[in-house]
Amino acid sequence: MSKFIAKPAATLTGNLKVPGDKSISHRCIMLGSLANGTTEVSGFLQGADALATLSAFKQMGVKIERSGDKVRIHGVGLHGLKKPDTALNLGNSGTSMRLMAGILAAQDFDSELTGDASLSKRPMDRIITPLTQMGALIESNNGKPPLKIKGAQKLKGIEYHLPIASAQIKSCVLLAALYAQGKTCIIEPQTTRDHTERMLNGLGYELDMAANKICLSGGGKLKSAQFQVPSDISSAAFFMVAGCIAKHADITLEGVNINPTRTGVIDILQLMGANLTLSNKQEIGGELLADIRVKSSVLHGITIPTELVPLAIDEFPAIFIAASCAQGETHLNGAKELRVKESDRIQVMADGLDILGIKNQVLADGIKIQGGKFGKPSGIIQSAHDHRISMSFAIASLRCDYPLEIEGVENVATSFPDFVKLANTIGMNIAQIN
Ligand code: S3P
Repeated sequence: MSKFIAKPAATLTGNLKVPGDKSISHRCIMLGSLANGTTEVSGFLQGADALATLSAFKQMGVKIERSGDKVRIHGVGLHGLKKPDTALNLGNSGTSMRLMAGILAAQDFDSELTGDASLSKRPMDRIITPLTQMGALIESNNGKPPLKIKGAQKLKGIEYHLPIASAQIKSCVLLAALYAQGKTCIIEPQTTRDHTERMLNGLGYELDMAANKICLSGGGKLKSAQFQVPSDISSAAFFMVAGCIAKHADITLEGVNINPTRTGVIDILQLMGANLTLSNKQEIGGELLADIRVKSSVLHGITIPTELVPLAIDEFPAIFIAASCAQGETHLNGAKELRVKESDRIQVMADGLDILGIKNQVLADGIKIQGGKFGKPSGIIQSAHDHRISMSFAIASLRCDYPLEIEGVENVATSFPDFVKLANTIGMNIAQIN
């Protein structure tokens, strides 16, 4: 098992560019493959998750050329995918499995989707239910992977009230709706990331969007396009927290995606008193970008507004570290979804905070964290093989007086392959031992 040894550091300086957005990289491959013509992508995330999507589409006969972060996809059109020879193994990637299930439910061939030990424990009934309503035939292991998807089913449009605020379910249904007869409408309980909608628009597909209702009629076509993937705010978040909690910090994160459905972490940190400023705002390919400057901050605990939860859903492990360094208590509710991410992020973070002597109370749908001082670690922190837990505790080392050991860090490569290198460039002191 790989581990990080993260030693204390006090000063962070410099500019850094974190890798491309994971959600957008997945969607570039999926929609580029289903478009007519050649789609060119730059800034593609070379992380294991996005690469799993890429190789799955290659296995379905799509010609995809990649050189570093540049990808050229020779789209085959909505009906041009071929039956893969084997099951499609999507590794650790829930986004790949949930979104691709929407596409595969509508193909005229059978397919099977599998994943690693963590993905095999994650709930898939949330997508099986609406897809089945649309006419799909999917077998699962009690609502968990592997998924066996029967081909040649005729899908029909549905009106679906999402029971959970989830962009993955929304996107899965939207992708199936491209093939369905008639109109599909999705009603969201809370706003979630809208990259699928933006990209479909960019590829010339008409969507009807009002408040939290998104409608789309099947039977259209996707045209090809060029995409420049902005830096992932979920990866930038670790350095936003790092900049806030380090004793002396002045760092700038360049060209970060600030799509308003993703900026919950900025709002939450600012509510906690973060010294964080945005500049150089621009729009590229339907997505908003900005440079984010972060300086050492005096943070205070807050009650996190529940409407911000889906807009910061992947950033809570890092936010919990900020809360541990804040004055007073931070209270999170309405975040039950954190329990079914790559790990149970409430419990696994609480266990790590216990090792560092930070008082916390685990709640069914959140946590209370009492800010304090990290003590001498009482053991090795277990990441439960969750990339975001590993990186969050690595950042915590900025406020520790002792080296921190974090075990099970190999999955950092799923979303942020150069994390250690970039962190050390700005002044951190992390070593990875394989
Ligand atoms: C994602 C949506 C979120 C997020 C995941 C990526 C996406 O999942 O946690 O990392 O790309 O649509 P949910 O939709 O399950 O909240």
